[in-house]
Amino acid sequence: MTMTAEATAQAVSLDAVTRTYGSVRALDGVTWTFPRGGFTAVMGPSGSGKSTFLHCASGLDRPTAGTVRIGGVDIGRLSETKRTRLRRERVGYVFQDFNLIPSMDVEQNITLPIRLGGAAAEPAWLAEVVRRVGLSDRLRHRPSELSGGQQQRAALARALVTRPEVVFADEPTGALDPRTARDVLRLLRETVDATGQTLVLVTHDPMAAAWADSVLFLDEGRIVDELAGPSAAAVAARWEAL
Ligand SMILES: Nc1ncnc2c1ncn2[C@@H]1O[C@H](COP(=O)(O)OP(=O)(O)O)[C@@H](O)[C@H]1O
Ligand SMILES: [Mg+2]
Repeated sequence: MTMTAEATAQAVSLDAVTRTYGSVRALDGVTWTFPRGGFTAVMGPSGSGKSTFLHCASGLDRPTAGTVRIGGVDIGRLSETKRTRLRRERVGYVFQDFNLIPSMDVEQNITLPIRLGGAAAEPAWLAEVVRRVGLSDRLRHRPSELSGGQQQRAALARALVTRPEVVFADEPTGALDPRTARDVLRLLRETVDATGQTLVLVTHDPMAAAWADSVLFLDEGRIVDELAGPSAAAVAARWEAL
């Protein structure tokens, strides 16, 4: 497959993407490009379509209409198997409800995507990620033996350990205390800066959004505004006006 330079500079692009559930237009004709190596925060009221946006952009869900490209590849044209493989190899996803496997311990959960791909975890990077999310002494615990915040950090580690090109994170700091949230955001910011990874992060917290290069505001399934170089105060002010 040939890809133009322009296409590969775009980590993820959506063109007129709509996702309906019955009569609900969860996403309503969204067109947007996430540049490679960018950190974008997505904000919006509950029900504004943030999770649907992430599901469609990451290839977890198929839009009702429109086109999604990841690294220039039109994922709507891929078979289910190829789409799954592309997701496993190039995309990390932190689910709002963690999606950890109850019967596996923390280390098994974190390394699952690597093992599914038929590889072994890189020990130094695994240890680094686990240390940065503060779970080094919890590797043998099952999810049910962890707090909500620890489960969220395990889900985050699982998304980072494969060194994906793009990470989608649905409110990854929602269950964390402020200090842990800051550590996690710093880890994400540094990963983006050091590796050129692309990050799309849904949050309700203006302080979290302020770590991003740019903030998108969603309302009723549409992008209604963008704030570049956001400060927490500017994000909060825009949020108030939404
Ligand atoms: N699986 C689904 N079935 C039916 N409606 C859904 C489903 N998922 C989301 N919706 C609806 O789509 C809209 C957007 O939902 P969602 O993307 O979860 O919003 P957010 O993440 O911003 O809270 C809401 O009205 C929600 O009720
Ligand atoms: Mg949501």
